Order: sequence, then C-alpha cells, then structure tokens
Amino acid sequence: MNINQEQWQEQIDAARIAYTRAYAPYSQFHVGAAALTRKGHVVSGCNVENASYGLTVCAERNCIAQAVIQGERNIQSVVVYTEQELLTPPCGACRQVIVEFLPQDGEVMSTNHLGESKIWTVSELLPNAFTPKSLLEIE
Ligand code: THU
Repeated sequence: MNINQEQWQEQIDAARIAYTRAYAPYSQFHVGAAALTRKGHVVSGCNVENASYGLTVCAERNCIAQAVIQGERNIQSVVVYTEQELLTPPCGACRQVIVEFLPQDGEVMSTNHLGESKIWTVSELLPNAFTPKSLLEIE
C-alpha cells in the first residue's frame, strides 16, 4: 500500500473531527477514526457507547460500516485518533473487522493530539487471521 502524506493528512483531519462527536459518557475515552476507500474517499466514525455497556461500537468499526453503507467495500487504510499520550491501537474485535475489508498490506495508523503516530500493516495487527477465504474451505 502506498498512502501519500496528503491522503494520511486528509484521514487524520477527518478522524479528529469525528473524535469531537464521540459518544462516550461511560468511559470518557473518546475516539475518532477515518478510512480511505480504494476509490479515494475518506469516511469517518466515532465510538458510540450504550447504557448496556457491551453494545458499545468502536470508532474503527463505525467508520468501516460507513464505507460499506456508501457502497465502498474496499478500504486502503484506517486512521485512529485519540487525545491519549499512549497511542491507541485497534481492539481485537476491530482488527477482525479490519481484516474483512482491508488487504493484508493495508495500513492502520494510530495518532494523537501531540502529532505522534505509529503505523501497522493489517497482517501485523492480526496475523493468521480467519478471513472470508477461510470459509471457502467449507464443503
Ligand atoms: N474504543 C474505540 O473506539 N477504539 C479503540 O481502538 C479502542 C477502544 C472505544 C470503545 C469504548 O467506547 C472506549 O473506547 C473505551 O474502551
């Protein structure tokens, strides 16, 4: 994957705006995310919590769902934005959803308000993943 600086910046800006819309009254842990689709569109999402805590949906999964809703199932990269000093990596559930819609060499960046960032490939985040291809083994 070759995401250029301008494309990363566009995603960071969108994730930062989405961050301001996070609904996180229980954890107070606000997260924004943005995905770059294969067609070059940037879509965003934030975490949305619920009084029934387990129903919480992370920012990453919401931004990927947003891409799918817009008819774009192929995603090149995802940016996660928080205002934490410790950069936030995607949780396990989100890694599984990321694998569904990004290629193995797709990239996931975590960034924060201090301008720090780290990038992982999808295969680094979830090696040996269960993927749609795994289902083809079923007779
Ligand atoms: N959360 C995300 O939205 N993305 C992550 O990568 C980590 C966790 C949310 C879920 C919950 O609303 C809050 O952060 C604390 O776990």
